[in-house]
Amino acid sequence: MQREQWNSRTGFILAAVGSAIGLGNIWRFPYMAYENGGGAFFIPYLFAMISAGIPFMIMEFSLGHKLRGAAPKIFSKLGHKYGLRLEWLGWFQILIAAVIAVYYVAVIGWAISFLGFSFTQSWGADTNAFFFSEYLKLGDNSPTRLGDFQLNIAIPMTIAWGITFLTVFTGVKKGIERASKLMMPLLFIMVLMLIGRIIFLPGAFEGLNYLFQPDFSKIFDAKVWSAAYGQIFFTLSVGFSIMLAYSSYLPEKSDINNNAFMTVLINCGFSILAGILIFAILGYMAQEQAKPLTEVVSSGVGLAFVTIPAAINLLPAPYLFGPLFFFALVVAGLSSHISIIEAITSALIDKLQVPRKKAAVIVCITGFTISMAFATNGGLLLLDLIDYFINNIALLSSCFAELIILAWLFKIADIRDYANRISDFNVGRWLELCLRFISPAILAIILVKNLINTINNGYGDYPITDQLILGWGLIALMLLISFVINLASNKEEL
Ligand code: ALA
Repeated sequence: MQREQWNSRTGFILAAVGSAIGLGNIWRFPYMAYENGGGAFFIPYLFAMISAGIPFMIMEFSLGHKLRGAAPKIFSKLGHKYGLRLEWLGWFQILIAAVIAVYYVAVIGWAISFLGFSFTQSWGADTNAFFFSEYLKLGDNSPTRLGDFQLNIAIPMTIAWGITFLTVFTGVKKGIERASKLMMPLLFIMVLMLIGRIIFLPGAFEGLNYLFQPDFSKIFDAKVWSAAYGQIFFTLSVGFSIMLAYSSYLPEKSDINNNAFMTVLINCGFSILAGILIFAILGYMAQEQAKPLTEVVSSGVGLAFVTIPAAINLLPAPYLFGPLFFFALVVAGLSSHISIIEAITSALIDKLQVPRKKAAVIVCITGFTISMAFATNGGLLLLDLIDYFINNIALLSSCFAELIILAWLFKIADIRDYANRISDFNVGRWLELCLRFISPAILAIILVKNLINTINNGYGDYPITDQLILGWGLIALMLLISFVINLASNKEEL
């Protein structure tokens, strides 16, 4: 089957940036930066970006471009050259993407609902009670006792699935590339418009001081480094099959190094813009309520769905800025969701040799059905528990395995030579230094720390059986499925 191709370089970069910029940039990055030392967080973050983010992106773009396949095909081909069977790693990455896809879409669904509420601020004055009690109806539930199905959450999730499905179904050029060319400029314009107004509100600069004021005592804390590396992999969509699939559609003449630098820098630049936006809003809110900023900020989903709506209530022209903020969140989320589903669809096309349209139908119907588990009273708890295990254990393990296999088993110098041969500018030996020594060493420390910590203390207050089933059990099942497919595969098949 002829592999599809991007129509233009801009189209590819916008699609890669669209995948990278997502929910992770808008609500996760600002909070992480704040939690982990404010301005001081930028040191580990930039270090992680240079030592892991850019090298990983160059490595994945080169592999996708050279081996022309989704993750399982790429790892299978690589292993084949050396008499090893590595297809399992590709499937493990695809399963990570699949799990992220089913809960990620729930957050996009909430954002679509909040976009609707934002026109009249129908979330009212008590935004905390509104989100948790009225909207999610989170009662006495747990991740395994999900309670009732919630149509008000399922409908916006269905809308999000519909958009993702139509885009992936339509194909690389006419679907994903076109959608990215529309969505990314729109997203930047919306965020810049928001910043352009909000930065001039009273208190906004005090908010920025909070974000950028460094707390250097945090820089020696291993947790801060772990947060920075975890955030870099998630935000750049590397290590879970997406960038491999996207770069497999690059035309032969492509500038790998330049594309990789641009994707990483635009994404990380956008995160800083999002940080400025969120903290300017929080600073204004703190000033309006005459409270310290530390009292108005909340973590995780609470930031986007509780704190920001409360801040929007206080803004001038809330009927304008509210929809602008939530529309930006929806667009950022959708462009990432499209890329996650594309990576899975692409693997299915490779493996089953089915046409794209059929693969897209199978992936989206299955994903849609499973994702409905999150449209329940306990959906948020299920999401929180799975998200922790997937990001802190599965994704970091996958990145570590990819690094060890590529940088130690295979000659990373070959990948660097390949990228340099087809790129406008060359990358030096620092790439090997980062991929062979710095990143694996830091990742190993973080991973071991996360494993020990999670084994000893678990995560949150969730019942231990829930953590065993939905955390450790889920990861074990993902590995088992990957190994079974690997074993069942005919060596020559891919
Ligand atoms: N890279 C995407 C995000 O940051 C998945 O949300």
